[in-house]
Amino acid sequence: MMQRCLQLARRALGRTAPNPLVGSVIVQAGEVVGEGFHPGAGQPHAEVFALQDAGDRAFGATVYVNLEPCNHYGRTPPCSEALVAAGVAKVVVGMVDPNPLVAGGGIMRLRNAGIEVVVGVEEDDCRQLNEGFVHRILYQRPFGILKYAMTLDGKIATSSGHSAWISNQSARNLVHQLRAACDAVIVGGNTVRKDNPRLTSRQAEAHNPLRVVMSRTLDLPTEAYLWQTTEFPTLVLTQKGANLDFQQLLWQKNVEVIELPSLTPTRAMAHLYERGFSSVLWECGGTLAAQAIAEGMVQKILAFIAPKIVGGSNAPSPIGDLGLTNMTQALALERVRWQTIDSDCLVEGYLPQKK
Ligand SMILES: NC(=O)c1ccc[n+]([C@@H]2O[C@H](COP(=O)([O-])OP(=O)(O)OC[C@H]3O[C@@H](n4cnc5c(N)ncnc54)[C@H](OP(=O)(O)O)[C@@H]3O)[C@@H](O)[C@H]2O)c1
Ligand SMILES: [Zn+2]
Repeated sequence: MMQRCLQLARRALGRTAPNPLVGSVIVQAGEVVGEGFHPGAGQPHAEVFALQDAGDRAFGATVYVNLEPCNHYGRTPPCSEALVAAGVAKVVVGMVDPNPLVAGGGIMRLRNAGIEVVVGVEEDDCRQLNEGFVHRILYQRPFGILKYAMTLDGKIATSSGHSAWISNQSARNLVHQLRAACDAVIVGGNTVRKDNPRLTSRQAEAHNPLRVVMSRTLDLPTEAYLWQTTEFPTLVLTQKGANLDFQQLLWQKNVEVIELPSLTPTRAMAHLYERGFSSVLWECGGTLAAQAIAEGMVQKILAFIAPKIVGGSNAPSPIGDLGLTNMTQALALERVRWQTIDSDCLVEGYLPQKK
């Protein structure tokens, strides 16, 4: 039932920030009588939809939900009150609310009303689904995911900068799904100059993240896929006073341009946090990726490795200079998993969290 909650929650993938992904199932005498999920900020919560779906059959029923029911008046009344009012007998909660200020409040409210509450069911999966939301709450910035594709000899492009394509079609389809689950995707100016990427999800009805370019010089091509904004928006982050003529050209193409006091990954992520974002995908080259890692703006890494060799002593690699000199200083990933995707390999892991 909890896995079903997660499945329902995923229907709103990429669309709920700054809110979490939540699904709920109501079971009466072994039969599912109600289901719901949270479609997005400002809309009712998953439990409310599930209660509506169940109607009278919620009385005496068991409610499953992947995140602790809320207990405060936000844009909607608290779900804990709705569950009490519906007379449910038992609530099974995937994980406690990550916000230390409210954690446990919803559960306590239910228990005080005589409802049996079970906490921590399929908890690892629940945490992973909402890792962006949890990070946003705990650290007041979005969760950063760095994704790159490299050859077996560790290159993300040839020495001339050509990189289409390193990974196979199935791996690229997976990247499109990953984009659909993120609120924004970031590249640096050089990637726009060399690759002219689209950065869309390429699937009908899937969410498309805000496409973000970080460029200090704004020495960028006048024509690029990212400047085509009729379907999907693009944001260019730059520094005060950079190339004003080009800024004007971008505004004419409906590309939003924001000048930050200085252009760093930290400032960029702070801006995206203010926009309400939870998950940000770094799809940049090694220069910006190294800076983002050094500043603690990357939490998770997804490396696609293709069994190809291009060589070239000047061909770029996924991460630029981190200033490390000794192998003992290497950043060791945690919770590492790998899988094969046709002929490619995907290695995933988490960077040790900076204090
Ligand atoms: N295989 C892959 O997964 C993959 C993914 C992405 C890119 N690539 C390849 O990587 C190569 C480009 O790599 P790259 O590292 O040069 O490009 P990049 O990701 O475009 O990053 C460097 C650019 O980011 C901008 N930037 C803004 N703020 C910055 C900051 N604080 N620190 C550093 N840079 C900042 C600068 O743009 P301005 O110069 O405009 O100011 C800088 O030139 C291309 O050949 C591309 O094909 C491969
Ligand atoms: Zn709620």
